[in-house]
Amino acid sequence: MTPDPRPDDADTPDDDVAPAAPPEDGAPDKFRPDYPRRGIRSFVLRAGRMGSGQVKAMETLGPLYVLPYKAALLDFDQAFGRHAPTVLEIGFGMGDATAQIAAARPQDNFIGIEVHTPGVGALLQRIEERGLTNLRLLQHDAVEVLRDMIAPGSLAGIHVYFPDPWHKKKHNKRRLIQSAFVRELSSRLAPGGYLHCATDWQPYAEQMLEVLVAEATLENSAKGSADGYAPRPDWRPLTKFENRGIKLGHGVWDLVFTKR
Ligand SMILES: C[S@@+](CC[C@H](N)C(=O)[O-])C[C@H]1O[C@@H](n2cnc3c(N)ncnc32)[C@H](O)[C@@H]1O
Repeated sequence: MTPDPRPDDADTPDDDVAPAAPPEDGAPDKFRPDYPRRGIRSFVLRAGRMGSGQVKAMETLGPLYVLPYKAALLDFDQAFGRHAPTVLEIGFGMGDATAQIAAARPQDNFIGIEVHTPGVGALLQRIEERGLTNLRLLQHDAVEVLRDMIAPGSLAGIHVYFPDPWHKKKHNKRRLIQSAFVRELSSRLAPGGYLHCATDWQPYAEQMLEVLVAEATLENSAKGSADGYAPRPDWRPLTKFENRGIKLGHGVWDLVFTKR
């Protein structure tokens, strides 16, 4: 299996000291939040130029759809101007799949979290193009958003699609789907809510399955299947990273667990 060129294949520091906001993500300083030191260092900000459309979207649509990070619980009803089941997505990348899902499920609210500024700009453009009213974004470390802003038992679902696989053994500790964080994710789900993860990196799929099965508050929706993995739900479109992985000959593994 050939690892695809994701950020963890770049020169990534191996020490345990979280870096301050990496300076080279191609975004104007005014759009780059300050990322404090934290637990899992699951991301590095990749180099990537902001297109003029993305810059404009950040300026004009950002104030409407990007929720500020605050160390205080988020009031979903206030953020969306309605009461509806709310689904959180961690690491939406450029957001194409996110926009498609939000368009296909107008009855649900979606909060997309991403640190990569060009991705936030790109999804803001999709929100406007599609006239989406059920999607809000947060540009901050998802580990802190979950800890500080999401009330226990408040989410109908959580999506973690193609999280950075951190291929190298010495970087595996940077993977998002590990026991302590899964416990936190599960704590934010309402009973019957779901956690849906997908990856195209088999060793990470195996880690996800092991960690999710071991979390007592979650139940595998595919426990009757031969290998424990779930079929891709119809409403999850192929994502950008998934397409790239498929072209490299990777398989794809979906995991859907529900909160007991
Ligand atoms: C490999 S990409 C996948 C993007 C998208 N889900 C897809 O399938 O195309 C993973 C994304 O997660 C984001 N990410 C990683 N850790 C994060 C964190 N702690 N908080 C917010 N975003 C994060 C990265 O910036 C990156 O854009």
